[in-house]
Amino acid sequence: MNITDITFEEEILEGIPNTLPPNQPYDGNYNHAPKRKSILNKEETKLALINALRYFDKKHHPVLIKEFKHELDTYGRIYMYRYRPTHKIIARSIDAYPAKSKQAAAVMLMIQNNLDDAIAQHPHELITYGGNGSVFSNWAQYRLTMQYLAQMTDTQTLVMYSGHPMGLFPSHKEAPRVVVTNGMMIPNYSKPDDWERFNALGVTQYGQMTAGSYMYIGPQGIVHGTTITVLNAFRKIKKAPLGNIFLTAGLGGMSGAQPKAGNIAGCITVCAEINEKALYTRHSQGWVDEVFRDINSLVERVQKAQKNKEIKSLAYLGNVIDVWEAFYTSNIHVDLGSDQTSLHNPWAGGYYPVGLDYQEANELMVSNPELFKEKVKESLRKHAEIVQKHTDKGTYFFDYGNAFLLEASRAGADVMAENGVDFKYPSYVQDIMGPMCFDYGFGPFRWVCASGSSEDLAKTDAIACEVLEDLKKEAPEEIQQQMIDNIKWIKGAQEHKLVVGSQARILYADAEGRMKIAEAFNTAIANNDIGTVILGRDHHDVSGTDSPYRETSNIYDGSQFTADMAIQNVIGDSFRGATWVSIHNGGGVGWGEVINGGFGMVLDGSEDSERRIKSMLFWDVNNGIARRNWARNKEATFAIKRAMESEPMLRVTIPNSVDDTLLNNL
Ligand SMILES: NC(=O)c1ccc[n+]([C@@H]2O[C@H](COP(=O)([O-])OP(=O)(O)OC[C@H]3O[C@@H](n4cnc5c(N)ncnc54)[C@H](O)[C@@H]3O)[C@@H](O)[C@H]2O)c1
Repeated sequence: MNITDITFEEEILEGIPNTLPPNQPYDGNYNHAPKRKSILNKEETKLALINALRYFDKKHHPVLIKEFKHELDTYGRIYMYRYRPTHKIIARSIDAYPAKSKQAAAVMLMIQNNLDDAIAQHPHELITYGGNGSVFSNWAQYRLTMQYLAQMTDTQTLVMYSGHPMGLFPSHKEAPRVVVTNGMMIPNYSKPDDWERFNALGVTQYGQMTAGSYMYIGPQGIVHGTTITVLNAFRKIKKAPLGNIFLTAGLGGMSGAQPKAGNIAGCITVCAEINEKALYTRHSQGWVDEVFRDINSLVERVQKAQKNKEIKSLAYLGNVIDVWEAFYTSNIHVDLGSDQTSLHNPWAGGYYPVGLDYQEANELMVSNPELFKEKVKESLRKHAEIVQKHTDKGTYFFDYGNAFLLEASRAGADVMAENGVDFKYPSYVQDIMGPMCFDYGFGPFRWVCASGSSEDLAKTDAIACEVLEDLKKEAPEEIQQQMIDNIKWIKGAQEHKLVVGSQARILYADAEGRMKIAEAFNTAIANNDIGTVILGRDHHDVSGTDSPYRETSNIYDGSQFTADMAIQNVIGDSFRGATWVSIHNGGGVGWGEVINGGFGMVLDGSEDSERRIKSMLFWDVNNGIARRNWARNKEATFAIKRAMESEPMLRVTIPNSVDDTLLNNL
């Protein structure tokens, strides 16, 4: 058969072709992953090649070994570009996949969505977001996985080892169809350089959060999450957003949501970005209103926006430290300050040091990595210093989950609190998302209409809105504000035009909200009002992630450095009805810094789906609430007591408090 004539279904069923497909040129029209640093010695290079070649028949090895060596030398990784499929990778309707199991077809849809050119950051390197958030490490893994999913039945489970499909194993109808692990390492081998080495060897990958777990829904998730953060941050400082300033940095993958979210929240957002391409991408999408290349014009414009109480987002092309300094000199009061440069990856382009332009910095990090490292550290010290000058005048500064405070502290910046253990500034989870959302069970619940129909999505929006409005009538005072924000969001969701790829929606809801919405979807499916729905969530949630400087940074009993919650969560989800589960090392804040997991659940209108919703969603939220309660977070104690009232089978230990007088007398 001529390879170009192959249909989508045939290509999926074929898996790794028996004949060598034509080689594919490196396409400069796409955004490609940066060259990874060379880390393998000669013996390890051989091992990487042997590892890559095990996917292919021996007869192809003489050709492929040269090609893969070239990829390793040129890009630092073996992506197997030759094996990129000829079919277009997009989230097709669930019925378009060649599959014996509807659940497996749903997973195929979600994998394709994560790798869609319009969604993935580096589609040809199989990276969805975050610079290194991989779905697979190479195209052989993609082809094999899709083939397995097409072959599997509802009594088998596909086992995914960091992008590699180990195989189909017999299981049973109630078991997950897919179990994913990404980047799980022996703890002592979980440093950034270990990642570089083992990833280059082709034996592990960084799955970020929803990249390696097939649950990314494009920019909507981050816009919603950032909007909720900005709204609650203004509440925290008891100011209305109107006419007040939010100053931050980064217009990249996730950070690019900040100005759009600032506009939805209703403040003045000022966002610095050093990379012209990233800045103009967001500007051309309409996510940021105005661009400034000159700092004085930016200062004048901000003063005018303050005076006229405008809702505006302003981007500055340059280093964020220059903006903090210019605002200080011009006496501009910054109400909220943060930073979303990629400090989880400080030495390889995540953070650009002040004093160098974009090109100079990119050159230096390759020509003299040690000097570049010094420049980054020096810049972080300066950065912290100017932020402090603003906070001394009343700015509320928070760490936005990008490891800013962690890296600044490692660079010797003055960011530690007096006790020498905590940071001077809170993380956004410590002050905002933790106590206001996660401890009550509110988190990023999402769903995808597997028919691919926008009418289905509109119907699910209406169903979700009705459920939340109903729940709000009886909801206690403590959670009213979150309900109001999310009802408002779902009403305006279609207007924000954030659907890219699959027909997906996100909102924040607590356990009761998530279960009631899912049950209402399942009834609508049973009544043939809508097609199949796939439920999921971001890992950045109540129970899914243990990360001491982010998701669990508002845990103060010492257990923020443990990962029992995330592991318990994925195990618990897997036997309570998830269609697929995943658990990852790394995500957001970096390799070795976080353990996070997620799930997908297919709703088909059946009684089985109804039972799984009740069993799994209840656990998926209340596991984290129980742990947050045990860590003495009073909001979580309130929430778990409420959950025990609604479900008599739930029994959770409530912590006793200790009188200060006893401690003071020690
Ligand atoms: N808080 C959250 O909910 C959340 C969510 C996702 C990501 N994050 C974290 O936020 C960070 C950013 O994520 P991303 O996907 O946007 O990464 P990204 O790399 O796509 O974007 C970061 C941007 O910052 C710019 N930048 C770097 N240094 C700069 C400087 N000194 N001045 C001005 N601009 C500078 C870069 O050019 C880049 O475009 C990551 O560390 C990520 O883990 C946080």
